[in-house]
Amino acid sequence: MATLEVEGLCKSYRTPNGQDMPVLKDVSFTAADGEFVAIVGPSGCGKTTFLRVLDGLAGADGGSIALDGRPIAGPGPDRGFVFQSDSLLPWRTVADNIGFGLELQRRDRATARRMVSDLVRLVGLEGFERYYPHQLSGGMRQRVNLARALAIDPGVLLMDEPFAALDAQTRELMQAELLRIWAEAHKTVVFITHQIDEAVYLADRVVVFSARPSVVKATITVDIPRPRPLSAKRQPAMLSRVDEIWRLIEEEVRR
Ligand SMILES: Nc1ncnc2c1ncn2[C@@H]1O[C@H](COP(=O)(O)OP(=O)(O)OP(=O)(O)O)[C@@H](O)[C@H]1O
Ligand SMILES: [Mg+2]
Repeated sequence: MATLEVEGLCKSYRTPNGQDMPVLKDVSFTAADGEFVAIVGPSGCGKTTFLRVLDGLAGADGGSIALDGRPIAGPGPDRGFVFQSDSLLPWRTVADNIGFGLELQRRDRATARRMVSDLVRLVGLEGFERYYPHQLSGGMRQRVNLARALAIDPGVLLMDEPFAALDAQTRELMQAELLRIWAEAHKTVVFITHQIDEAVYLADRVVVFSARPSVVKATITVDIPRPRPLSAKRQPAMLSRVDEIWRLIEEEVRR
């Protein structure tokens, strides 16, 4: 189980000239167990900051975060983070990158090896276990990143524009792959993206952040049935959600 509840979160940064700059003003947010929630909003509005606070990498100035009713204060194995740029260790193979978190947890070798081989299969990298990151394509590296975040079996996956650096075709393929993996692994996902069609295609709900300092401007439910083939992106129901969200963000950018 992994239900995330965020209440009245605020956070400011200190600017180089010593002033407080509010980034998150009053963000309230929930992601139900197994739900896929996407976050979109104008550039610089505080999306990455929000995810870093959820992960415990940054502290909040006020408000609360709870996972299954337990307050969250710092990082923990109940949340896995997937960054935009891959953060793989170049001197480790695919298998050893995926197993890194398990080593830190001091799992016994046989268990770790079995878990890694399950994850390699889940993300579709069979045959590449002994490759090094520089021998992989961008899409493959993001598969390794995802497997590495899944290895510690977190209830919640926090993803910050994980496909932003990929070409359009690979990106579409990875979107479909992510939905397959999500359905199989049963995770609660919070997914940040700039691409509105990506948000609508992937998510159960799309949360729109306002311009900085951020509040939740709107939440759009995407009640399009699953499984969603890539062709679902061209359905009128999907396109009208995309339009609606575009308009909301445009308003914020103009403000
Ligand atoms: N460590 C930091 N110290 C000071 N200011 C910061 C820090 N991190 C982020 N900021 C500021 O907070 C604001 C929000 O940044 P953040 O990266 O959260 O936005 P974002 O919505 O993820 O943007 P983008 O869509 O471009 O990725 C920006 O104005 C940024 O300059
Ligand atoms: Mg960001």
